[in-house]
Amino acid sequence: MNDSRELLDSPLFKALADLSFDSVMVTEPTDDQGGHTVVFVNQGFTDMTGYAAEEVLGQTPGILQGPKTDKALTDRLAEDLRQGRTFHGSTVNYRKDGSPFDIEWKVTPVMRDGRVTHYLAVQRDITGR
Ligand SMILES: Cc1cc2nc3c(=O)[nH]c(=O)nc-3n(C[C@H](O)[C@H](O)[C@H](O)COP(=O)(O)O)c2cc1C
Repeated sequence: MNDSRELLDSPLFKALADLSFDSVMVTEPTDDQGGHTVVFVNQGFTDMTGYAAEEVLGQTPGILQGPKTDKALTDRLAEDLRQGRTFHGSTVNYRKDGSPFDIEWKVTPVMRDGRVTHYLAVQRDITGR
């Protein structure tokens, strides 16, 4: 999808992602059933999780989930995205080394010409707050 590459390669998006204090993740839909895979993460994501970008590109954000992740919440996220709404919530996620942390995150669908081109998330470690 050339269109979608163009959005990720835009100087404005790159600069914003580099400057962000928070983790930034972008996924791209892979089918019409809500499937999606990671196409971008910033340095803040690597700092938060211990995963290098190369390790998560092509995967789903599900790699951050584990036994204590709230399934009802990720179901709500999927429903919010289906309805074109922005999701905001917090749950337990897991770093590359397996250690749990509390994550607060927002996800929104990015539309162009009536179609979802990307899902965009900002994420932060709120452990101990
Ligand atoms: C852009 C984006 C970022 C996401 N980030 C996270 C995250 O940081 N932590 C998390 O637990 N789930 C996150 N999710 C939700 C998971 O992708 C989703 O719950 C997981 O893929 C399982 O979905 P499924 O049950 O439909 O396969 C994110 C979703 C999107 C679209």
